[in-house]
Amino acid sequence: MVRKTLIAGNWKMNGLSEDGQALAKGVALEAKKAARKDCEFLICPPFTLLGLAKKAIKGSRVMLGAQDCHFAEKGAHTGDISPVMLKDAGCQYVIVGHSERRTDHYESDELVQKKATAAIAAGLKVIICIGETEAERDAGKTIDICTAQINGSVPECSTAQNTVIAYEPVWAIGTGRTPTTAEVEDVHAAIRKVIGKKLGRANANKMRILYGGSMKPSNAKELLALPDVDGGLIGGASLKVADFMAIAEASKQ
Ligand code: PGA
Repeated sequence: MVRKTLIAGNWKMNGLSEDGQALAKGVALEAKKAARKDCEFLICPPFTLLGLAKKAIKGSRVMLGAQDCHFAEKGAHTGDISPVMLKDAGCQYVIVGHSERRTDHYESDELVQKKATAAIAAGLKVIICIGETEAERDAGKTIDICTAQINGSVPECSTAQNTVIAYEPVWAIGTGRTPTTAEVEDVHAAIRKVIGKKLGRANANKMRILYGGSMKPSNAKELLALPDVDGGLIGGASLKVADFMAIAEASKQ
């Protein structure tokens, strides 16, 4: 089963016009030269930079995504952005349910599922994030937590074509710490099983499951070589063109 590797950059709340544009341009340029012709590149800048980034990556193989959306199409939701607006702004993807949204904005599985449903209906692909906290890991609950998050956050309309799962252990995000490769493979394989139960074997076999949390050039090769790891959701290391591209080059063929 060949699943196309997805190398996705989550810029989070970083970037002003000048450096954001330079970063997007740099990724587009390097992606053209990249030896890996068979992987997909995605950048997810903050909302304010979507327009500039769209221009900067025009004509390249790099795709554009956003970091969150509302579930409504339009209306009285001050400060929010709808999936239709993201599509209009040139996005192909949107990240939903990132642990920073779940924590900072008290987002529940139910809300994440509503966002994912709306985004898919608008023609976007979704990256649905799940992952356990350190306390949950220490209590041996990693698989239970991921199972509950998949069952609660992934909508029935999800397919391998419109949905990507990102497994991001909360304690590994931005900390420089990662689970062992054996632990990552165990969790990814378990996630694929749960997806199989929920959406059927065919979708589970084809759906991409990314690893996220302190992925960097020095650990990318071993993480991306794992059979059930189909790419990365990269935060800190996506803010430097060289690091982001080095991760892509380290991915399996
Ligand atoms: P990190 O973030 O690579 O900086 O750990 C990953 C993420 O939160 O998506």
